[in-house]
Amino acid sequence: MTEQNGTIESHPVHHGEVAETYPPNAEFKAQARVNDPSVYWRAAQDPEGYWADEATNLQWTKPFTEILDWSNPPFAKWFADGELNVSVNCLDRHVAAGLGDRVAIHFEGEPGDARSITYAELTHEVKRAANMLTSLGVTAGDRVALYMPMIPETVISMLAVARLGAAHSVVFGGFSAESLRARIDDAEAELVITADGGYRKSRVSALKPTVDDALALHGGGSTVQKVLVVERTKNDVTMEPGRDLWWHEEITAYDGDHEAQGFPAENPLFILYTSGTTGKPKGILHTSGGYLTQVSTTHRNVFDLKPETDVYWCTADIGWITGHSYVVYGPLANGATQVIYEGTPETPTWGRWWEIIQKYGVSIFYTAPTAIRSFMKIGRQVPEQYDLSSIRVLGSVGEPINPEAWRWYREVIGAGSAPIVDTWWQTETGAMMIAPLPGLTHLKPGSAQAPLPGISATVADDDGNPVSNGQGGLLVVQRPWPAMVRTIWGDDERFKETYWEKFGDRYFAGDGARLDEDGDLWLLGRVDDVMNVSGHRLSTAEIESALIENHAVAESAVVGADDPTTGQAVVAFCVLKESYLTDHVNTEGLDQELRVFVGKQIGAIARPRNVYIVAELPKTRSGKIMRRLLKDIAEGKEIGDTSTLADTMVMSTIQDQVIGKK
Ligand code: WTA
Repeated sequence: MTEQNGTIESHPVHHGEVAETYPPNAEFKAQARVNDPSVYWRAAQDPEGYWADEATNLQWTKPFTEILDWSNPPFAKWFADGELNVSVNCLDRHVAAGLGDRVAIHFEGEPGDARSITYAELTHEVKRAANMLTSLGVTAGDRVALYMPMIPETVISMLAVARLGAAHSVVFGGFSAESLRARIDDAEAELVITADGGYRKSRVSALKPTVDDALALHGGGSTVQKVLVVERTKNDVTMEPGRDLWWHEEITAYDGDHEAQGFPAENPLFILYTSGTTGKPKGILHTSGGYLTQVSTTHRNVFDLKPETDVYWCTADIGWITGHSYVVYGPLANGATQVIYEGTPETPTWGRWWEIIQKYGVSIFYTAPTAIRSFMKIGRQVPEQYDLSSIRVLGSVGEPINPEAWRWYREVIGAGSAPIVDTWWQTETGAMMIAPLPGLTHLKPGSAQAPLPGISATVADDDGNPVSNGQGGLLVVQRPWPAMVRTIWGDDERFKETYWEKFGDRYFAGDGARLDEDGDLWLLGRVDDVMNVSGHRLSTAEIESALIENHAVAESAVVGADDPTTGQAVVAFCVLKESYLTDHVNTEGLDQELRVFVGKQIGAIARPRNVYIVAELPKTRSGKIMRRLLKDIAEGKEIGDTSTLADTMVMSTIQDQVIGKK
């Protein structure tokens, strides 16, 4: 058990944020897609009407007559009697509109290979892939797991699965065999699409062997019938006869004719697993019509997209929600031209991203604060060597952006003039919820500012009452929105408990927030046991259960400690088993071993920055671990109130043990 969280007290209100504002310049405002402030109140008068209008920008095979059905909260339905094909909306309709020659994807491989794919070509490839998947038995309602690097085939696979009315479950390539298997099992996927490997940090990062390991776990029996393997890195892989197939061999049998069928707006589009407050990841389910409406609308409006001229680049991996909504579905539904880069920002040098921006003339750039802070550390002399003058809009996502990073981003990457849109949203919200509109908003560094048109979000106190300006509380979304999570896959009860129990039919996001004197929103981070490391969500409970799988560990507590680069860092405290201590006089090196162990269990992203071996954990009289105190230690702060501890001495013992390690 952990200390009761989710209260405002655990997140003190931060005062003293900067008051400076950056209004849009006249030139930007004049050309902006959205520059009439009345959009906010018009949408607020009739949010459903607003979203229905936006939805008509999509191509429906059967038009909807219903907008929102909230008769059975918290299970929303949007546009439920309408039918559409998501893949056709991202592809065929642009080709039909004469845009087939427009580049959809400028792919840049890490080793330097590059290829540009037009909408006509992408459509052709997706149709072939859809035919191939059909012959492998994929039909509407099935789930297909993807374990892929950042290559065009990943996008092609997602769109081919969607085209058939099946749902994809993309598992980030950094996850371990265990994590992959848990996700395959939970979704009962029958097909896995993977690659031999991908390029990362100038090396081949193998993927297929992890799929093999995943499928061999638990005695080998799984729901998976076939594994389709894209050839990318040509590393040695074993192909299991009857199960494993090479994409490039199979695909030759299929041509590019594929008549797509419309599916109901509420047909599942994908499941994406995200960390929650317990050890088991949650399968966030998104559906088709509402999701595509909100991702495309927000992508156009928040980035001020001009699909004819802009070159857009979002650096997120497709394994995360940002990759789903703002690499695949939003940009492609809008007919945008975008860059997809396979590798890491420092390969072969820290200039790589800026070189890519220069090469393709990227005009809209969307990345995470943790990346910006890494570049700040390296120094502005690196980006200054490149021509970044094409940039006109900058975006930020994943965690609050600190004002210092905001200013650096604007000045060094945005030539001191590009608007920065700080976009708050979640895997569960599916699309952006709180963000500036660059032609309207007077930007404040560090604030996501205001709910987008059609979204009603606010800050509430613990009882759900809205707070006044100048006060802090919990972020609440008051009305259903089109791209909202529909349920946790296979677990309606957990869906209700996690998000809806606290405030009835309003959505509890799990984030602390405050309103400043002007009523602008500032996000303050999670109020639950979810950590945010480099913009990735990690669960303390999940890492704790991984640690106690180790033969040495009796008990563990994990906290997210403030970190200047990654936002938060994973810090673990472990109590060892008596049996281990009897056999080992010396525990030297065990901390490193445990770090690696967590990496193997969950994936490298979950590997703790520090593991401290301690004799005891601080607990209340009722036996709850007081993480707050461990966080103080991990951050080197003065230890807070220890009066509720069963044994008040325990903290000084822990502190001695930790300091001894530092
Ligand atoms: C945090 C990523 C402040 C927040 C799209 C949220 C942010 C969690 C911001 C969701 C932002 C994301 N400002 N905090 N602009 N964007 N967050 O599901 O704590 O990976 O609850 O979705 O990231 O993370 P997720």
